[in-house]
Amino acid sequence: EKGGYEHFMLKEIHEIPRVIDDTLSEHMDREFDLGYDKFVFVACGTSYHAGLIAKHVIEKVAKLPVRVEIASEFNYHPPPERATYIAITQSGETADTLEAMRLAKKLGNRVVTIANVLGSTATRIADETLFTRAGPEISVAATKSFISQLIVIYVLAFKLSNRIDLLNELEKISGEVRKILDNKEDIEDVAEILSKYRNLMYVGRGIAYPTAMEGALKMKEISYIHAEAYPAGELKHGPFALLGKDMPVIACVVRDETYEIMLNNIKEIKARGSFVLAISDENDEEIEKYVDHVVKLPAVNPLLTPITQSVALQLLAYYTAKLRGCEIDKPRNLAKSVTVE
Ligand code: F6R
Repeated sequence: EKGGYEHFMLKEIHEIPRVIDDTLSEHMDREFDLGYDKFVFVACGTSYHAGLIAKHVIEKVAKLPVRVEIASEFNYHPPPERATYIAITQSGETADTLEAMRLAKKLGNRVVTIANVLGSTATRIADETLFTRAGPEISVAATKSFISQLIVIYVLAFKLSNRIDLLNELEKISGEVRKILDNKEDIEDVAEILSKYRNLMYVGRGIAYPTAMEGALKMKEISYIHAEAYPAGELKHGPFALLGKDMPVIACVVRDETYEIMLNNIKEIKARGSFVLAISDENDEEIEKYVDHVVKLPAVNPLLTPITQSVALQLLAYYTAKLRGCEIDKPRNLAKSVTVE
């Protein structure tokens, strides 16, 4: 049932292009009427990272205010203003997320869920469900479901702002992901280097910061290497002390307004002796001058780089965990759906 793949995780990563197209066809032609023009995303783990990317995209493109809350923290400070709440949950059964949805509802808000499982509890609590079409996800680590959540978020943001141009670019993204899957040997090679370390630091700026967070989560979850994510500009406020030969840095580089300052940050990191792996795009001819290794991805609109970079970081975590002999589909101490608070 793994379709010739060694693990469900790798199989599910390879399903991403199809999942993107299925999720797009589910939502491309629908009208979104979500009630308020203020949004609060609530979610846990990887789904929370999708919420952080949603904030970036919706605020930047649709110019509407967005808050993002970790569901398990939400109860302690529910925002006083009425808003549309969007709970992101693959399983639809995460206890903390369900609790946040119930509270938001009780306070008189409109509650929507972006969910992957038909008939799940989240879909029964919500006033409206936006389904992701990822299909069943067996591996504990979320991969295709995360990307399908991003697709729903992009369609929503681009429709809210009438950006047909961006919707057209989104329709091409599955083809770009396919190119990454067809050229994954490079990622496998660099995993060999990373697998020997005990710590990893992921950095990004702007939209690449949540991508870095998700990359670090996937890495720690399945390879058991301690991985942390930082906004690149924040390193000089403390984490610089960690840099050096024992702390490699994975830099998620986006060729938008963050690019030049990110290059500066990378130079600062290199000057402190860390091995630097950059994830950038194929048209970036500058980056290799400053880093030890570059994984080059197809060039896409900067707003869509969380998709391409996350697929690359999922593969990086997968191959690193495999080289370390980890039980990839069922990492220790974890369950696929977390039904206790
Ligand atoms: C990490 C992972 C978890 C889930 C989290 C929320 O790979 O899968 O962090 O994202 O437990 O689960 P859902 O989305 O089912 O609410």
